[in-house]
Amino acid sequence: MDPLLVTPTPLEPAPRLSAALGLEPDQIWLKRDDLAGIGGGGNKLRKLEVALAEARAAGADVLVTTGAAQSNHARLTAAVAARAGLDAVLVLAGEEPADRRGNLLLDDLLGARIVWAGDVADAGYAAGLGARADEVVAELRQAGRTPHLVPYGGTSPATAQGYVTAAEELEEQLPDLAHVVVAVGSGGTMAGLVRRLGPTKVLGVDTGALPDPRASVGDLLEQMGRGLEPAALRLDHDHVGEGYEAMVPTVREAVELVARTEGVLLDLTYVGRAAAGLVGAVRAGLIRPGARTVLMHTGGLPGLFGHPDLA
Ligand SMILES: Cc1ncc(COP(=O)(O)O)c(C=O)c1O
Repeated sequence: MDPLLVTPTPLEPAPRLSAALGLEPDQIWLKRDDLAGIGGGGNKLRKLEVALAEARAAGADVLVTTGAAQSNHARLTAAVAARAGLDAVLVLAGEEPADRRGNLLLDDLLGARIVWAGDVADAGYAAGLGARADEVVAELRQAGRTPHLVPYGGTSPATAQGYVTAAEELEEQLPDLAHVVVAVGSGGTMAGLVRRLGPTKVLGVDTGALPDPRASVGDLLEQMGRGLEPAALRLDHDHVGEGYEAMVPTVREAVELVARTEGVLLDLTYVGRAAAGLVGAVRAGLIRPGARTVLMHTGGLPGLFGHPDLA
């Protein structure tokens, strides 16, 4: 497998954030999956290592994937394709915007071709994008190319293994770990963590990307050989607000808190929501003084510069 990020990624203490939440200084830690790796870094690289190995095994010369206009996964797929000497086609929801900001700007720099899928909400977001991606794959095949379709969010039972490895790193880095808080998009990151750590240590914070994250993460776990009652999964739906792209006051507050206590920057779509979930869990007494807690910094900062409410 081509290594796309340097592991183990750092685990940093967040003493001023801990204190601001009334916890002991060595209680909250940041797992910096945003720091290491190509294309700006982020959780998707752990999954894309597996996806790239699959593409190479299939003799692919072009990676095709899907996502929202500001998809971090699409941007990192473009970076991985560039690094591997492959082409990238990104099938993105919506219409082409007047200006290319945030991840879209980086997609361009990385040389990806973008196909705008239009309004896919009616077909169900991921399914609508998937149908358009299938057409793109068929067109590429007809043109004599060998495309490899990387699934929505980079998530499959095989690629989610990348987060089983991340959980093993955490166990080494913080043996008395009590909670890991992670944003849930396509669900692969949470599924990998739960596969290794079990359901009680992992708190997934819903971003609104999936209609039923509990069922999706449950399905993934089943296919990864760890079937469990989906009700056992810990999921927080309190920070979805008006939906995936919305600015949510609790998220904005958590992003400011982490920035102003630790100097660490989070996006408003993913890691900001995870941070809001962590703050909410502390305030609700679910994370108690003494319990060591990791916030997964899964990357995504470019999305901040493309957020519709920050224009
Ligand atoms: C920055 C960031 N964090 C977390 C996630 C969620 O990961 P997953 O799709 O595996 O649930 C994503 C997904 O797009 C992401 O871009």
